[in-house]
Amino acid sequence: MHSPPLPILSLFLLLFLAVHPRCDAAVPLTKYCGTDRKITRAASANIARVLASLLSETPSKGFSTASYGSGHGDRAYGLAQCRQDVSVEDCRTCLRDSAAQLPKLCRGGADARVWFDYCFLRYGTRPFAGELDTAYGLFYINVQNVTEDAAEQRRFDRELGSLMSKIQTQAPARGSRGLAKLQTKFTPFVTIYALAQCTQDLPPLACAQCISIAVANFPVLCPHRKGCRALYSSCYVRYEIYPFFFPVPAGSSAAAAAAAAAAAAAASSVSVVVYP
Ligand SMILES: *[C@@H]1O[C@H](CO)[C@@H](O)[C@H](O)[C@H]1NC(C)=O
Repeated sequence: MHSPPLPILSLFLLLFLAVHPRCDAAVPLTKYCGTDRKITRAASANIARVLASLLSETPSKGFSTASYGSGHGDRAYGLAQCRQDVSVEDCRTCLRDSAAQLPKLCRGGADARVWFDYCFLRYGTRPFAGELDTAYGLFYINVQNVTEDAAEQRRFDRELGSLMSKIQTQAPARGSRGLAKLQTKFTPFVTIYALAQCTQDLPPLACAQCISIAVANFPVLCPHRKGCRALYSSCYVRYEIYPFFFPVPAGSSAAAAAAAAAAAAAASSVSVVVYP
């Protein structure tokens, strides 16, 4: 087993849209459109079939892949996944929004991907299932520090690091279907909640590599920040200091969680796009 490549030193950061408010469910967190923007008429029809299949198969299972058509450049491939902790109904709504928007977001594109908090949708004219892909990543960062005390900041980074290494072991483990969610108390009043999910087509090693690449960027891009989200095509990794996954963990009331989420939404966040 070799250690995964850490892109830290070769990071090429592009800060875009320096600060923007969090948006409602129908606005994607990010999208990626390949540079090849000329697909055939047949491919376009096949993509529509693939999207219809993904929409009908994914909500009940949380994940599905589909392909349709024949001929190089005409055959279409797709993948859809919801976060495993969201309801079938939320999954369906999220994918409906995604499938409606993606062909417009990447008009005529041969490689199109869109990320929402609850789901990820991707299609293209080249097979990609099972491949680790961290070529494009978006980090969504809360600009506020957990604490302004330097020693406490270092302690937070250590605690988060050990939480993340547990997540990295759990998500690829047999039976977890690529998902891990954990929490740890940082102080009696501050709990760190973390969730990682790989796309279910990935073999365990590739899943671990994706999470490792995402997590390696946390100390660089969002050290001791109140929250950070890494969005890659192969995995989603996020932590917050309020419960953001379902079911809301015991010991934190749903009302408190909603209030914390609203406060976090009001705080500004920064998006960073990472190219290895
Ligand atoms: C967060 O802490 C860092 C020190 O690690 C400091 O440089 C920065 O100004 C702080 N940010 C805010 C928003 O207070």
